[in-house]
Amino acid sequence: MEKLIIPGNQIINGEITISGAKNSAVAIIPACIIAGTKIHLENIPKIKDVYILLEIIQDMGATIKWENEILTIDTTNINEKYVFSSLTRKIRASVYFMGSFLSRFKNVEIPMPGGCEIGLRPIDQHLKVFKALGADIKINKGIIKLKANELLGNFIYLDIVSVGATINAMLAAITAKGRTILENVSKEPEVVDTANFLNAIGASVQGAGTDTIIIKRKKYINNATHYSIIPDRIEAGTYMIGTVATKGNITIRNVIPKHLGAIIAKLKEAGAKIICGEDYITVIKNENNLINPLDIRTLPYPGFPTDLQPIIVPMLIKANGTSIVTENIFENRFGYVGALRRMGAKIKTEGKIMIIEGMQQLTGANIKIPDLRAGMGLLLAGLIAEDETTLTGINYIRRGYENFEDKLLKLGINLRSI
Ligand code: EPZ
Repeated sequence: MEKLIIPGNQIINGEITISGAKNSAVAIIPACIIAGTKIHLENIPKIKDVYILLEIIQDMGATIKWENEILTIDTTNINEKYVFSSLTRKIRASVYFMGSFLSRFKNVEIPMPGGCEIGLRPIDQHLKVFKALGADIKINKGIIKLKANELLGNFIYLDIVSVGATINAMLAAITAKGRTILENVSKEPEVVDTANFLNAIGASVQGAGTDTIIIKRKKYINNATHYSIIPDRIEAGTYMIGTVATKGNITIRNVIPKHLGAIIAKLKEAGAKIICGEDYITVIKNENNLINPLDIRTLPYPGFPTDLQPIIVPMLIKANGTSIVTENIFENRFGYVGALRRMGAKIKTEGKIMIIEGMQQLTGANIKIPDLRAGMGLLLAGLIAEDETTLTGINYIRRGYENFEDKLLKLGINLRSI
């Protein structure tokens, strides 16, 4: 079992370049199936979740080529009767094969996606959308069967703001007859990125990033095209928060500062100095080396992202006061708190609320990573601990952070993997 040894008392200092957004890549790769042609994608991060999706689409007949940072995917010959394996359960983004297969083939059979460490992650809203567009849905023995003679545009109100359901709705609706109006949609930048990609391959998706998305059917959705995905705001936010937690300084390049509004606001409240350029952000530590306590409430974009909740909590352990964190998106995203308590943190949780006492000393521990974002949060806790921490389950971090060891090395952090 691979272990990561993290010496304590380390400070992040330096400059790194941010990779492409994981949650755009895992939507746009399945979306290529709708075009049925050759598409060139840029800025796709080399992370585990991307490799798993590429393995699945090659298995169904697509060909891929990754040359000088350009990923070319040719989905001309996809087996429309493809039987999805249980490999799809390994990754939440396999839900997007439902929207893309319905769109192109009007038919798909796929295992129900699993829940995971952060919650049940139901797909009732995804199914509500497919039904509203005219699909017949059958579920038995954990296999979802979706079938439609044709897809008809409709007015659809999403009962909960859902990134996945919003993206799946766009994938399924772009070939639906007439017009589809989606209300109460997610405004995440990765939703907008996917909408821009769909328009690039010939679809008509308007209003992404607002509360209402309007989709009109286009006869041919198969422009061969070049598309470059946006930078990963969650990766960027992770390194910014880690820098404040370790009381260092950083410049992160290839970012869209607008996508980091909530993180910039909260780190300024914490006392950091933030300088934003066109495509870079510099974080400078507080001149008194202090971190102010915060009140963090996770919300859909543009609110504070739930994915950075497990990342900012370790920073708050060093704040000069008590902080409050409210997790409004997932029902079980405090799973990592036990590990922090074993390191000496004084944290109380009550339902979706967490109270973090500041000014705590952390001691190293042997920790098993529970999920992707908590894994990176616990790594940051290791950096600010007094002595050595050992992490296992590193592959979780590799799912979402491209070359994280090299990037941390460049930032003066030494890690040893055994
Ligand atoms: C996406 O997950 C991201 N994953 C998550 O990032 C992110 O945390 C989440 O959006 C919220 O921003 C990808 O994009 C691959 P949701 P998704 O549908 O789409 C409930 C990471 O670490 N819900 O926006 O699955 C759901 O249970 C991952 O990169 C329903 O009730 O999340 C949750 O409480 C973790 N019914 C809330 O909505 C549904 O049909 C938001 O979930 C769908 C969702």
